[in-house]
Amino acid sequence: MKKRLLFICLGNICRSPAAEGIMRKKVEDRWLNDNFEIDSAGIGAWHAGELPDRRMRHHAALRGYELSMRVRQFQSEDFLRFDYIVVMDEENYCDVEARRPKGSPGSMAQVLRMKDFFRKYQDATSVPDPYYGGDADFELALDLIEDGCEGLLDRLVENE
Ligand code: 4NP
Repeated sequence: MKKRLLFICLGNICRSPAAEGIMRKKVEDRWLNDNFEIDSAGIGAWHAGELPDRRMRHHAALRGYELSMRVRQFQSEDFLRFDYIVVMDEENYCDVEARRPKGSPGSMAQVLRMKDFFRKYQDATSVPDPYYGGDADFELALDLIEDGCEGLLDRLVENE
């Protein structure tokens, strides 16, 4: 069975599209494309339809990730369309849980925190938002997301 992953951040222009691009690459590198469906979305709709933030696209491209997806807003129905919803920080966690459909119409996604899969950055408690930051903040976000995606992918493959 395909595992369906959805990465979430506030705007879907910096962290979650980077996570989508990084996880796609990791899955391709392990020849696991057919086993995963990967997407991203934002809590807010401010940038819906746009490309990810130009600065994140630039920093991601320096590491070989092309971020050409379009921004979309998270919806309650995503709980039914995905197996795992992976959030970047605690605010995302609360915002996602607040949109969990009431009742239990079938199986619903499990909400995971990216920080729980960090291995090199075990002291970090979130993937901080780089939007109001500079180059170093975008690089740190990518370092953390690469670390978290590697740990998450290992865990998902172990649980096959
Ligand atoms: P992201 O960063 O959640 O990593 O995509 C942000 C992007 C946009 C805004 C906030 C955070 N915003 O307020 O527009």
